[in-house]
Amino acid sequence: MTEPQKPIERDEHSGVETTGHEWDGLKELNHPAPRWWLIVFLITCIWAVGYWVVYPAWPTLSGNTKGTAGWTSHKKLAEEQAEITVRRGEFADKIKAHTLDEIQKDPELYAFAVAGGKTMFKENCSACHGTGAAGGKGYPNLNDDDWIWGGDLQSIYHTLKVGVRAGHDDTRSSQMPAFSGILKKEDINHVAEHVLSLSTGKGDNEAGAALFKQNCAACHGEQGKGGRSVGAPNLADAIWLYGGIKADIAAQVANPRHGVMPTWESRLPDETIKQLAIYVHSLGGGEGATKTIPSSATTSIGGEEAATPKE
Ligand code: HEC
Ligand code: HEC
Repeated sequence: MTEPQKPIERDEHSGVETTGHEWDGLKELNHPAPRWWLIVFLITCIWAVGYWVVYPAWPTLSGNTKGTAGWTSHKKLAEEQAEITVRRGEFADKIKAHTLDEIQKDPELYAFAVAGGKTMFKENCSACHGTGAAGGKGYPNLNDDDWIWGGDLQSIYHTLKVGVRAGHDDTRSSQMPAFSGILKKEDINHVAEHVLSLSTGKGDNEAGAALFKQNCAACHGEQGKGGRSVGAPNLADAIWLYGGIKADIAAQVANPRHGVMPTWESRLPDETIKQLAIYVHSLGGGEGATKTIPSSATTSIGGEEAATPKE
């Protein structure tokens, strides 16, 4: 029993063919998908099949279909890593071949040095100086502009190479005497009060000031502003390596710690030490030329008048 075919019906308002479907008096108009859409759809289907053949695609019992192109994500990763290694090698060679000043002036090389230095810092330095280089008791903060041995690029580089009181022939070195065997306990207290007054402006005393002039100024300077040639910290800036209350100061005067910073010359290649120096210098407290100032202009910046101990 075949039904007689319905004649094609047209919507009376728009004149468009209907599909013959009707719901509660609403008729569905026949709008087939546009031809271009169908073509794109078919192309993507064919593309997908091609993709399955060429690339790894379907899971199988023993793994997955491998694809005819032999592509694997492991292979791609290995290729990309190889490229990075080559580029790194290129940069390392360039860093080796250029002076610190030259690296600073080359934006691309400089960026690479800072990034590399940051990684090396985490590996080699953060155990003592902290991941953010903010230091801690006995370990100087490398972010601020308070430098014991100097904060221009060359000085930082030199400190890294030779260390401080370390096993290097040219290590930076100086020994603050243990005043427990030289001064009476009350004198140590007086001089500690005087030292504290240098940054607070309070509690100075004549005896302490006189003792300071006699025993301490040779290294720390008349005003206590520090002496970089002997690594004597600035005592007037309220930044303390070993604590800033009177008891801390008296303890350091009685028995100095003689902090040790390792030498890196024998442990790290020179290009790595250069990157580390540039990274540390970039942290915010770096002195001297940052990009364009010629290096001859850097030596007079930053408390250099206190650099030589006054007799
Ligand atoms: C074993 C602990 C230790 C490690 C590791 C260490 N340092 Fe130091 N560092 C010190 C100490 C302690 C001092 C302070 C020395 C002093 O009393 O003059 C210092 C001082 C410095 C200074 C001189 C700061 C100034 O004010 O002049 C720089 C720069 C520095 N460190 C950078 C580094 C870098 C970069 C690394 C990693 C390659 C590193 N340090 C690893 C302990 C360490
Ligand atoms: C031979 C040079 C020398 C002389 C003299 C000297 N100092 Fe020092 N002083 C240093 C050095 C170097 C340090 C670095 C600390 C360390 O590692 O022991 C230091 C550190 C200090 C500190 C710790 C600073 C901080 O940031 O925590 C104080 C305080 C201090 N000295 C006070 C004195 C006083 C007071 C005298 C005199 C009674 C004196 N020093 C004499 C070289 C000297």
